[in-house]
Amino acid sequence: MTDTRIHIPVLLDEVLAALSPRDGGLYVDGTFGAGGYSRALLQSSSCRVIGIDRDPAAIERGRALAQEFPGRLEVIEGRFGDMDRLLGDELLAGHGVEKVDGVALDVGVSSPQIDEPERGFSFRFDGPLDMRMGRDGPTAADVVNTAGEAELADIIYHLGEERMARRVARAIVAARREAPIERTARLAEIIRSVVPKGKGDGIDPATRSFQALRIHVNDELGELRRGLSAAESLLAPGGRLAVVSFHSLEDREVKAFLRERSSPPPSPSRHTPVTAVAEHHASFRLLSRKPVDPSEAEARNNPRARSARLRAAERTEAPAFPAPGKEAA
Ligand SMILES: C[S@@+](CC[C@H](N)C(=O)[O-])C[C@H]1O[C@@H](n2cnc3c(N)ncnc32)[C@H](O)[C@@H]1O
Repeated sequence: MTDTRIHIPVLLDEVLAALSPRDGGLYVDGTFGAGGYSRALLQSSSCRVIGIDRDPAAIERGRALAQEFPGRLEVIEGRFGDMDRLLGDELLAGHGVEKVDGVALDVGVSSPQIDEPERGFSFRFDGPLDMRMGRDGPTAADVVNTAGEAELADIIYHLGEERMARRVARAIVAARREAPIERTARLAEIIRSVVPKGKGDGIDPATRSFQALRIHVNDELGELRRGLSAAESLLAPGGRLAVVSFHSLEDREVKAFLRERSSPPPSPSRHTPVTAVAEHHASFRLLSRKPVDPSEAEARNNPRARSARLRAAERTEAPAFPAPGKEAA
């Protein structure tokens, strides 16, 4: 029997082509996971890789992989949204560089996470309602048992794109009055009791609400925003950024970020303030205008790949835009 917990890297050849690794280069794999991208990078050239993951189980796997590539792979437990801080000047100086040559992000959850009932991501198996990729912060159970009905409805509507979000939130609040909701199976039942099965799409009615809670619990969109901006400040001119996303909410973030960062400066007019022209220099050049989707063969062989989409860009010489909440450097 196939072990479904084995994670098959998605769009691997395409990500490698985008990063175009070179001997001696230093690359960041911001979502180490099962190490598929890191391994491929290390095999492709005599480069070095720094792997980041917020999941301690991924870091364990990283330590094992590091032994296969002595001195070339380092793994750090943390969030990729903090990667500029995690890879401080000291760490980079230890590698003899000031900047890195590539950053890969393959956002979302890994197969080992989703298929392990104890992690509480899946409505297909019963498990504690956890959904945290890392070990900090509130669990999904904390959220469903304490958030107000309107807040729950907002989370489920915006992050799950569930049209029946209000109904789901109302059912959750009614059920938790009976007893706290602690297990994935119970939450799935509550959702299924109010959301009808879609006609012909075969999607479980709990899918969208579970996705919403997972994105909320892990602040996945906030992480993505911070991670893109951190990558911008870490990449050397000519360095490449490759981001694989799995749903439209994530892809929208990546697209908007790259569109802003790759746009030409506004043509000066006597109405344009001088500062706006001076500050607006494209910090990225898109590698292709359209995103890269998986081939038919990949989508057939790996169902996880079906909704994947890669966007990639090359860092220019221009200074990084000010990071959200930070002053311009
Ligand atoms: C889709 S998997 C990556 C799979 C990897 N590319 C491979 O080939 O094995 C996503 C991984 O990113 C991690 N992750 C997601 N968001 C993160 C974040 N903000 N910071 C650090 N790790 C994150 C998850 O814990 C998970 O292990």
